Amino acid sequence: MENKGRRTFLKDTCKICVLGAVSFSVADFLASCGTTQKGFKTTVDDHKVTVPLTLFDAGNAQIISPKNYEYEIAVQKNPDNTYQALLLRCTHQHNPLVPTGNGYLCSLHGSQYDKTGKVKKGPAEKPLPTLQTETTATNLIIYI
Ligand code: FES
Repeated sequence: MENKGRRTFLKDTCKICVLGAVSFSVADFLASCGTTQKGFKTTVDDHKVTVPLTLFDAGNAQIISPKNYEYEIAVQKNPDNTYQALLLRCTHQHNPLVPTGNGYLCSLHGSQYDKTGKVKKGPAEKPLPTLQTETTATNLIIYI
């Protein structure tokens, strides 16, 4: 009887340790990828998101976080001053993606995408959707 209690204790303790280790590993992984950084906050107005072009003075790759919108948008400024906007929505089952530093990760079933939106690892099969953009003198407009 005493042995059974000890076995149960050890079994339960090991489960907690494994859960702790997994949680630590995921948190560590995300932190190492810079995912603790928040995206540029903005609003959606008439299916459009407006971002000041000066945002890209801080770097050519920016994450946009529209308020009250389920998905973030990754915007890359190209050397020819054009922009590519990717909707960070998994093409498998529409889960929001997390930036990893060298691409994007879906936490639901593990799909991975590179920075250009191509699938690196399934189960997703299709690349990330590209959003139409337009520039004005001072802003980048992203159509969602
Ligand atoms: S929803 Fe992203 S991998 Fe399934």
